[in-house]
Amino acid sequence: MASPTVVIASLVFYSFIASFSVAANFYNDFDITWGDGRGQIVNNGELLTLSLDKASGSGFQSKNEYLFGKIDMQLKLVPGNSAGTVTAYYLSSKGSTWDEIDFEFLGNLSGDPYILHTNVFSQGKGNREQQFSLWFDPTVDFHTYSILWNPQGIIFSVDGTPIREFKNIESKGVPFPKAQPMRIYSSLWNADDWATRGGLVKTDWTHAPFTASYRNFNANACIWSSGSSSCPSNSPPSSTSSNSWLSQELDSSNQERLQWVQKNYMIYNYCTDTKRFPQGLPSECNTA
Ligand SMILES: *[C@@H]1O[C@H](CO)[C@@H](O)[C@H](O)[C@H]1NC(C)=O
Repeated sequence: MASPTVVIASLVFYSFIASFSVAANFYNDFDITWGDGRGQIVNNGELLTLSLDKASGSGFQSKNEYLFGKIDMQLKLVPGNSAGTVTAYYLSSKGSTWDEIDFEFLGNLSGDPYILHTNVFSQGKGNREQQFSLWFDPTVDFHTYSILWNPQGIIFSVDGTPIREFKNIESKGVPFPKAQPMRIYSSLWNADDWATRGGLVKTDWTHAPFTASYRNFNANACIWSSGSSSCPSNSPPSSTSSNSWLSQELDSSNQERLQWVQKNYMIYNYCTDTKRFPQGLPSECNTA
């Protein structure tokens, strides 16, 4: 016979497990939106897969809209010869002056490195590409790709290492995404007209279907619903509350890690592309 203490302890334990698995269940948080069966939620909601063949790619979107959040997802990208394929994972609002925060993974021939492409749109204007190579093969294991989006800025991270920061410098006249709720989207599609070596390498359909996998979604985020936010608007977030991400910025050690990535793994930066911006670099490029 179980003692009352054991019963209570196991109840506490199982309710912890239950709330954890609810948070990570793709059925609760996402809808497969296109691809005619090529996108699937499996393993009781723990795993989501997208696939691409010659006829179609596939995609999903979050049920919720968010206005600020710290959003983590683990992805395992198309292995082997993934040339020509693109896996996009991003946040976006709607309308002609939309905001968007993008991760895009550009596939490659077996053994050749993926490119991680990033961009930030505010009020319909993007052209803020930064591209990175990765310090691991993103097709062998799941890795965590995170977006921290709060009123101070946007930080892109890979396995907890910041790779890019887009600060809120509205005070200098650069629009910042802060008023339009965004959904999470992802899709796997064929982009062999540009993705791999600028379009030189085409998709080899004999390797289809191509599959990318997702797991362990976690959002500490303000859910936007019927015109209001799930986060308190007037009380400033305290550093001890579960909303501490709302005021989080890069501390000095994370600044250093960001510099390390930018120095060693950045392969394209619009902020140094003076040929592209003969009238002068965008204003956000001139702030340290
Ligand atoms: C693919 O590999 C080639 C050769 O290493 C490299 O030049 C290219 O940047 C890689 N990535 C893409 C997406 O083309």
